[in-house]
Amino acid sequence: MTQLTLSAEEIALLGERGYFTRGAFLGPAAALAAQAAAARLVRAGALKRAGVRRGGQHRLDDAVRQDSITWLDEAVEDAALREVQARFEALRQALNEGAYLGLRRTELQLAHYPSTGAVYQRHRDAFPGDDNRRVTAIVYLNAAWEPAHGGALRLYVDPPLDLAPALDQLVVFRSEVVEHEVRPSFADRYAITAWYSAR
Ligand code: OGA
Ligand code: MN
Repeated sequence: MTQLTLSAEEIALLGERGYFTRGAFLGPAAALAAQAAAARLVRAGALKRAGVRRGGQHRLDDAVRQDSITWLDEAVEDAALREVQARFEALRQALNEGAYLGLRRTELQLAHYPSTGAVYQRHRDAFPGDDNRRVTAIVYLNAAWEPAHGGALRLYVDPPLDLAPALDQLVVFRSEVVEHEVRPSFADRYAITAWYSAR
């Protein structure tokens, strides 16, 4: 389960278009278990309103993003979330083997968008020259997602792409290159994001 190989096509897409998607990443049972774990953390009040960094300052900006987050690190005890961590570690290794990206560090974050039309406005996760995040990978944990729920990840690629945050959907993109946003979300929306850095 933790073995993961990227296809030649996925590697080429990441290099040439800046992203690739995969319809299944964890497997349905593991994805459902991770969704349940995510919902439990939200109910337990473990997530905090996300901040937006500007000029070295950390502050809340209601207009930019309305999600709540928590970091998933070594302290995670939940078995389903540990499985997610293992899977993202396998993805890091596969990216290094396939695309020679030299990714060393992983930051893993659980995000929850409430059903109130929550968004994350257009942005990039890193800026060229930053010795920082190089690849973003997101898995969505939303069983029974419907078009009316909105909440698409919009990638500003050519042509722009709207990706529904359906259960176990994976998207991988180059953090410095691909601008993206979260469209208004009208159902509870869970995602786990990995940022891989070379430093
Ligand atoms: C982010 C982000 C997109 C998503 O957290 O930086 O862009 O689809 N998330 O949740
Ligand atoms: Mn982002």
